[in-house]
Amino acid sequence: MRNELFIDGHWVKPVNGGTFPIVNPATEEVVHHGPAGTAEDVDLAVRAARRAFDQGPWPKMSGAERARYLRAMAAGIRNRLQELARLETIDNGKPIPEAEWDIGDAAGCFDFYADLAQELDRKPVEAIALADARFTSKAVREPVGVAAAIIPWNYPLLMAAWKVAPALAAGCTMVLKPAELTSMTAMELAAIAMAADLPPGVLNVVTGAGPIAGQALADHPNVDKLAFTGSVPVGSKIMQAAARDIKRVSLELGGKSPFVVFEDSDIDAAVEWVMFGIFWNQGEVCSATSRVLVQESIYDRFLDRLIEETGKIKIGDGQDPGVLLGPLVSRRQMDQVLSAIDKARADGAHVAVGGGRPAGFNRGFFVEPTVLVDVPLESDAWNEEIFGPVVCLRPFATEAEAVMLANDSKFGLAAAVMSRDDARAERVAAALRAGIVWINCSQPTFTEAPWGGYKQSGIGRELGRWGLENYLETKQITRFASAEPWGWYIKDSTLS
Ligand code: NAI
Ligand code: MG
Repeated sequence: MRNELFIDGHWVKPVNGGTFPIVNPATEEVVHHGPAGTAEDVDLAVRAARRAFDQGPWPKMSGAERARYLRAMAAGIRNRLQELARLETIDNGKPIPEAEWDIGDAAGCFDFYADLAQELDRKPVEAIALADARFTSKAVREPVGVAAAIIPWNYPLLMAAWKVAPALAAGCTMVLKPAELTSMTAMELAAIAMAADLPPGVLNVVTGAGPIAGQALADHPNVDKLAFTGSVPVGSKIMQAAARDIKRVSLELGGKSPFVVFEDSDIDAAVEWVMFGIFWNQGEVCSATSRVLVQESIYDRFLDRLIEETGKIKIGDGQDPGVLLGPLVSRRQMDQVLSAIDKARADGAHVAVGGGRPAGFNRGFFVEPTVLVDVPLESDAWNEEIFGPVVCLRPFATEAEAVMLANDSKFGLAAAVMSRDDARAERVAAALRAGIVWINCSQPTFTEAPWGGYKQSGIGRELGRWGLENYLETKQITRFASAEPWGWYIKDSTLS
């Protein structure tokens, strides 16, 4: 485990020497002390990224050359998959098989953007047909400049990959600030970049507190682009910081995503996907389908099966075999989720299963997988992100009612619909106001497909070719290609 920041290709101690505790949420043990960067360290990192962009080779390289570095980083991640997954589990709490999945996806993300970097070479210019034939024009794509990534703790290395890989593919340089709750794999990503011989300053990693290191990065005048994933209140601060000097900004924020289950669904398949939609990663998922609408004719049967299967989920230390639900990331997160459940009860909801800390656990930030029913539409439980293994259930009568209830939210990140009737599923998918709609499943995420939210769930799209767009500027280059004089001021020019 490391205790230095990665700036300009070197490991350096934070200027003021500060540290913060790294806690294993399953045991509550302090396993390490991470380096707490401050505004001074952020400034050094941004300067390094600026130099690397303005004077270094990175933005001028061909896409194929940058792709070689990205592939080396993908291989570096894959070679250390087990070790990185273990660090992720110690830091975040998630079960090892989920962490392994994330690390594999992070490597895949670097490979995917390596391909897109190469594609930039094949499509460097786009000719533009102008109505005025005296001019020719073309559009070229260029990197935005110095990008800053501020990322959350729920998928630590994967969220880093979603931002670092496309930024580097585009030719940007970057400063990455991981969440203080989960910094270990970001530090290893720096080591992997170093081993891949990434030129100095192209990727810098500064760990530390959000309001200190994160805010300094968002405020830094030499950053051209802010990419953020996290809560709505912090997203709003990031956008305000961007507004001051017109930085480019992309935000991936929270949600309260609906899952609509129609009566023609296979009950077991519906229960399985509803569980995957809310209990996977302890429900600490921005796109978690935390509001489930079930057609009234199957509501009771569905609820019985959901209660039965939820009760069987093995809770424990993510490092133990067979565990499907680990602890939440922190005491604060556990306390927030427990108080959200208490508030739901006070507001009139009933706990069908779960509802507290699991019996027999005297340490660790564990919360039982919880199903809430009779949840009032105006309650916080129905409207606000809980970010834990807590699902709200509600019956509906008609398709129109389901769509109305599903869309009645300030968020619009994701939504899911389950039906054997493909035409109905497509109709509902079209009607749902969300950036991601799953049909007959919930949560599978693909590097090739656009990811991001409507409404308060964010701005912009990550992943796929859309993810690369975040890090590219568009420049038009237009030439006056006529031998005729322009003749506006000088009417009788005699061309020799
Ligand atoms: P957060 O939004 O505070 O943390 C996300 C990142 O922002 C971290 O790297 C943090 O250090 C940084 N940050 C915090 N304050 C900052 C500031 N003033 N300037 C710049 N960066 C700053 O999320 P938090 O507090 O850990 O979780 C609170 C809630 O946010 C969760 O309960 C959940 O509802 C939501 N959340 C949503 C996520 C998503 O994937 N959409 C991920 C994490 C949390
Ligand atoms: Mg931790």
